[in-house]
Amino acid sequence: MAPLREHNAPVCSPTRAWDGGLRPRAGRERAVSCRQPSAARRADLRTPFRPERGRVTRAGMGLLEDRVAIVTGAGRGLGREEALALAAEGARVVVNDLGVSLAGEVETGDSPAALVVEEIRQAGGTAIANGDDVADWAGAGRLVAQAYDTFGRLDILVNNAGVLRDRMSFNMTEAEFDLVMRVHCKGHYATSHQAVRRWRDAAKATGAAVYGRIINTVSEAGLYGSAGNSNYAMAKAAIAALTQSLAREMGRYGVTSNFMAPRARTRMTLSTPTGSMFEAPAEGFDPWNPAWPAQFVVFLASELASDINGQGFVSWANEIELVSGWHSIGKVAHTAGAFMARDIPGRLDELFGSSPRQPA
Ligand SMILES: NC(=O)c1ccc[n+]([C@@H]2O[C@H](COP(=O)([O-])OP(=O)(O)OC[C@H]3O[C@@H](n4cnc5c(N)ncnc54)[C@H](O)[C@@H]3O)[C@@H](O)[C@H]2O)c1
Repeated sequence: MAPLREHNAPVCSPTRAWDGGLRPRAGRERAVSCRQPSAARRADLRTPFRPERGRVTRAGMGLLEDRVAIVTGAGRGLGREEALALAAEGARVVVNDLGVSLAGEVETGDSPAALVVEEIRQAGGTAIANGDDVADWAGAGRLVAQAYDTFGRLDILVNNAGVLRDRMSFNMTEAEFDLVMRVHCKGHYATSHQAVRRWRDAAKATGAAVYGRIINTVSEAGLYGSAGNSNYAMAKAAIAALTQSLAREMGRYGVTSNFMAPRARTRMTLSTPTGSMFEAPAEGFDPWNPAWPAQFVVFLASELASDINGQGFVSWANEIELVSGWHSIGKVAHTAGAFMARDIPGRLDELFGSSPRQPA
């Protein structure tokens, strides 16, 4: 997709800025994303970029000047990159993170949200930290209220926070199932509820459409199913459905709702059996840098994507896929009343056509 490549600027973020055991190289922690690199900078995709004033390093306006964004789970991984990238385009960002392990256990030590806020401020941007649990109804309310109380508005909600408790379905415990469903499903729903309530009230009060963007984080596990993390796949599929429901409910008020399934190197992907494929190459373009999906989030959050609603994408490196969900691909009708069980096998070839009868 041409616009992304233009706006993307695959030069702007530190090539090793991710969590998961691997640390940014010394002295590069403050580097943040920005867009519109010079031709010279484009030529060297691995040149670390340290803008003097962070977000405002180019002559033109940022894509998100004066917008206010919330990014959940933004203390590390993809959320951190999304917060940095939104701030680099001029958004004031509420950086939410509960500060938990990959498995959802509360961690001690520095608040990851506060560290990202500091990073944004050092680079000249505006951000505040929030440590609420997004899967707590009241916590999500406090998070959205903090945006309004501090900045007077909310324009963009990026639901990103997530945890993993991978297990085959036959070994899954109730606690593992519940936690993953809670953080992903309720953690997307509660914040969305709080945001759309405010946006709808504002639209009704003024009689005019508002600017609202919801960007949800899905996974290909939820789009296609996966073995070994059915709880996660189920939760992500639910988020895809929520995305479309929100799009149908809120489009009339000026709010769009889309989802992205990213692929990137974070502690989450590094923890999986295929984690080694996400390692950064010794040199050349780093396709798994989490900064790249973050640029797609910036695009969806901006006015450039005003006419995109209820859509799903897979985003990584220099590629974007548009995906669509369940839809009818075959149909048979019985001519003499309802189908009885024994009637059905004789119609299966007609129903399936060339479609497979088993998962690939
Ligand atoms: N990394 C990938 O390639 C990939 C692929 C598909 C989907 N995803 C999704 O992207 C999102 C980000 O994943 P990541 O890889 O950056 O993982 P990550 O573990 O690096 O970051 C997740 C963040 O969410 C925070 N968090 C967890 N529960 C929270 C809660 N209840 N409230 C607030 N914050 C909470 C954690 O503290 C953590 O900082 C997740 O939803 C994940 O499922 C990632």
